[in-house]
Amino acid sequence: MLLHLDASARRTSFSRKLSSAYAENWRAARPEAGYAYRDLAARPVPHIGEAWTELCDHILEHEITDISRYREAVRTPAQEQAWKIVEPLLAEVVAADVILIGAPMYNYSIPSSLKAWIDQITFPKMSLEGRSFVVTGARGGAYGPGTPREPYDHQERYLRDFFKGHFRVEDVTFIHAELVNARVDPALAHLRDRHEESLAAALREAAR
Ligand SMILES: Cc1cc2nc3c(=O)[nH]c(=O)nc-3n(C[C@H](O)[C@H](O)[C@H](O)COP(=O)(O)O)c2cc1C
Repeated sequence: MLLHLDASARRTSFSRKLSSAYAENWRAARPEAGYAYRDLAARPVPHIGEAWTELCDHILEHEITDISRYREAVRTPAQEQAWKIVEPLLAEVVAADVILIGAPMYNYSIPSSLKAWIDQITFPKMSLEGRSFVVTGARGGAYGPGTPREPYDHQERYLRDFFKGHFRVEDVTFIHAELVNARVDPALAHLRDRHEESLAAALREAAR
C-alpha cells in the first residue's frame, strides 16, 4: 500500500507535483496495491495535547512496543478522544509499504502540518522496519553537497535522522526541486535555468 501525504500550504506546489508524479507511476506499476491520500495542509491533523502525552507515557512505562497493543493505554475519556485522532492515522502508517511525503522546506525545516502528523503517529521505541519513505521536497534555495547553504538543511537531515534513528528505516529517498525562488525573486533571476534543470531532473526521478 502507498500512503501519500502532502504538506505544502499552496495548491500549485512543486512538492505536490513531484509527489503526484511519483504516486501516479507507483500506482500504475502496482494496480492491485492499495492507496491512501492525506492532505495535511488542507485537512491538518491537530497538535498533540496532554491526553496524548499520557498515552505516550503509559506505552513507555509498560514497555508496549507492539503497535496493535497501544489501545491498552486508553484509560480516561480525554485519552479516548486523543486515541480517536491517532488510531486512523496510525492504521494508515501500519498498512503502508511505502510512505510518500510531499514536503516543502519551510524555514530550513519542514511545515508544521507535517510535524503535527509526525507527533501524532510517533510513539516510544516504535519501529517501522520493512517500510520505505520517499520524500519529494521543494526549496527556494540550493542546499546540495558543497553549497554554502548545505549546513542549514534541516529538512532532509531531520527527516532522514528521524526515520533512521527512531523508526529504524534506512530505505529513505529524497527528491528535491531546488532554487524555486528563482521563479519569483528578481535577485535570483540568473539562477532560473539551474532551477529549471533541478525541477526537470526531480520530475524525471519521481516518475521513474
Ligand atoms: C513559510 C515558508 C518558509 C520558507 N522557508 C524557506 C527556507 O528556509 N529556505 C528555502 O530555501 N526556501 C524557503 N521557502 C521557499 C519554499 O521552500 C519554496 O517556495 C518551495 O517551492 C515550497 O514548496 P511548494 O512549491 O511545494 O509549495 C519558504 C516558503 C515558505 C512559504
